[in-house]
Amino acid sequence: MGRRLYMETFGCQMNVLDTQLVLGRLRAEGYELAESVEQADVVLYNTCSVRQHAEQKVWSRLGRLRGEKKRRPELVIGVMGCMAEREGAGMFERHPQVDVLCGPAELDKLPGLLERALAKAEGMGRQVALMGSRDGGRPAQHGGADGLEQLDLSRSVSGAEDVSQAYVRITRGCNKFCSYCVVPYTRGPEVHRPPGNIMEEVRRLAGAGAREVTLLGQTVNRYAYRHGDGRTTSFAELLSMVHEAAPGLARLRFVTSYPRDFTDEALAAMRDCSRICGYLHVPAQSGSDRILKMMNRGYTVGEYRELVERARSMVSDVSIASDFIVGFPTETEEDHEASMELIRHCRFKNSFVFKYSARPGTMAAKRYKDDIPEAVKRRRNSEVLAVQQTVCLENNRQMIGKRVAVIVEGQSKLASRQGKSDGEPVQLTVGGRRAGQTQLIARARGDQIVCFDGLPELKGRILSLEIVGAEGLTLFGRLAGS
Ligand code: 5AD
Ligand code: SF4
Repeated sequence: MGRRLYMETFGCQMNVLDTQLVLGRLRAEGYELAESVEQADVVLYNTCSVRQHAEQKVWSRLGRLRGEKKRRPELVIGVMGCMAEREGAGMFERHPQVDVLCGPAELDKLPGLLERALAKAEGMGRQVALMGSRDGGRPAQHGGADGLEQLDLSRSVSGAEDVSQAYVRITRGCNKFCSYCVVPYTRGPEVHRPPGNIMEEVRRLAGAGAREVTLLGQTVNRYAYRHGDGRTTSFAELLSMVHEAAPGLARLRFVTSYPRDFTDEALAAMRDCSRICGYLHVPAQSGSDRILKMMNRGYTVGEYRELVERARSMVSDVSIASDFIVGFPTETEEDHEASMELIRHCRFKNSFVFKYSARPGTMAAKRYKDDIPEAVKRRRNSEVLAVQQTVCLENNRQMIGKRVAVIVEGQSKLASRQGKSDGEPVQLTVGGRRAGQTQLIARARGDQIVCFDGLPELKGRILSLEIVGAEGLTLFGRLAGS
């Protein structure tokens, strides 16, 4: 019988993709998914280090595994992802029950590490693959022979899993070194994947039923692949090439963009390629030049605004989302007000707002005291969210009465909870809902969430909905004729 694997994923889309790739590889080697820790031979956490809060969740999971490991010493516990890389061997001191550590830049080695840990061969001990423990790190660009590249390429799309919305990585790592951020330390230097490999992967996914592909990179729009003969494929060229390569794909998107690197050519590709969604996630982080400088972001608020204006003038109806960090060291009420002003000015579709969390090893943690009290961070967090909420509602109200194309993502949380508690698919006829219908969640091209009533089988389909209502971050839609 195959090995049973219990896996949990924390953090960003990159981690979701890493989990899919690792799972594909492990399935091919005979692993099956277990529903709980108790039923598993291997427990694997794919971890995130971007804020302390994300790490705490994993620490507490690991704490709870102590007893299980005592009862079943043969259980293999693996930590992969950014926390493994950041903590290194310190992880074993805090949690001796951990057997395997694998950084995000070493995931091609994971199956071998698990195999050796399971075999517990004489003298093997703990299994570790970390970028920090490698000599010299990886070269900045490397070709198709590289193990990580193979992991991306070897993804299996023949399995039972739903591929209607898929991620494809175009860039690994990050060279930006924003002062607060651990990513350059955990995921390593920026590596751009060969365009031929990216297109091959997109074509294969489209062939297996993908309707929407999201291209992923920490600074996705900085993509530039230097070929052996010195030619470069730019991000704009890549977008057009992928768009052409997979005509069966209904939607192409990309995240996350870096504000400084947007060329007019890339915006023109968005404008001209009909299936590229008019959506940008381009984190501003702060509306204060002084704070942006301390964050080492490399642009001013004026330059950020200029980008937003350029994007809006070139790509009609583009919807723009942002990230903000509140309570960065020394942030004053004026700096905070400036962030809220930027949201009002740019009319973001939404903003992800985070309280500053000092990450050991980063420039900000070394240079600046984390001097904004937690209560102030919390207040600023809710004030920024409230401003964004007002902008959201205004944006959303303008969509009422319009028809929008959406991709159906599945049942809304409320509907699936109802379904689960009954043990049956939801069969409701309340509020005009027809038999068999449930509340579904769909996403518009600008990334807006639209709830509507429909049959669960619509998952993965592209539909046209009439927008009939707006509430906070959510739009409500109606299927034609319902
Ligand atoms: N503290 C708070 N938020 C952070 N982010 C990254 N590092 C930190 C940190 N140390 C946020 C940024 C980034 C998002 C993914 O997480 O806003 O865009
Ligand atoms: Fe972190 Fe900045 Fe790189 Fe984004 S661009 S991953 S915030 S260092």
